Amino acid sequence: MEKHIIFALAMILFLSIAPAHGQYYSGTVTPRPRPEKMTRLHFFFHDIISGKNPTAVLIARPDNSSSPFGRLYAIDDPLTVGPELTSMVIGNAQGLYLSLSRDPSLFTAVLYVDFAFTSGRFNGSSFSLFSRYAAVEYDGAAEPEREMAIVGGRGAFRMARGFAQTRGISTNATTGDAITEFNVTLYHY
Ligand SMILES: *[C@@H]1O[C@H](CO)[C@@H](O)[C@H](O)[C@H]1NC(C)=O
Ligand SMILES: *[C@@H]1O[C@H](CO)[C@@H](O)[C@H](O)[C@H]1NC(C)=O
Ligand SMILES: *[C@@H]1O[C@H](CO)[C@@H](O)[C@H](O)[C@H]1NC(C)=O
Ligand SMILES: *[C@@H]1O[C@H](CO)[C@@H](O)[C@H](O)[C@H]1NC(C)=O
Repeated sequence: MEKHIIFALAMILFLSIAPAHGQYYSGTVTPRPRPEKMTRLHFFFHDIISGKNPTAVLIARPDNSSSPFGRLYAIDDPLTVGPELTSMVIGNAQGLYLSLSRDPSLFTAVLYVDFAFTSGRFNGSSFSLFSRYAAVEYDGAAEPEREMAIVGGRGAFRMARGFAQTRGISTNATTGDAITEFNVTLYHY
């Protein structure tokens, strides 16, 4: 009889100490309010499909389709201070873009891209752009502006949110090579 009581007490003690299986650490606190910063960035993005050293490569497309719909590209595009590729490189944009217009006369894509900086104040930091590169009306005079959403970041841009205003500076219709100007506004801590 006594043995049973000792055993039962031992079991209770054991169960109260042993971590419950499948439990994980969690803790929730209310963070102190922090002042938000705003950073603006201006640079040029070079997407080179042609030549011996492309920065964007087609990695998948629907079987036997000549349509742009469903083409997936991997990119490692240089970011420069000026519009020329020979100007100072300040970072690179790595990720994917997926061409999604079913209308072959339009180009729309969704970009899933991490823009990282390799020099200056923001060396080692990056922001994450996840947004649609929309088809916009082009009146033939001025290149249209497009806006894309920025959803996060690393380093100095941890928890960033913001937007990028972009405009095509030059596009080679034959090769698809394009240079795009970026004005980025980031809110971060
Ligand atoms: C692929 O496309 C070509 C040209 O449109 C067509 O002639 C051919 O039959 C297609 N092949 C398949 C497997 O669908
Ligand atoms: C950027 O940071 C890396 C890693 O800390 C360092 O090796 C590199 O020299 C830095 N580049 C510049 C231009 O400061
Ligand atoms: C970026 O900002 C500069 C300076 O305000 C302006 O001249 C340029 O047109 C802007 N470009 C885009 C794509 O918003
Ligand atoms: C577009 O690229 C082709 C092939 O590299 C080249 O021959 C042509 O001059 C380029 N066009 C423009 C406007 O740069």
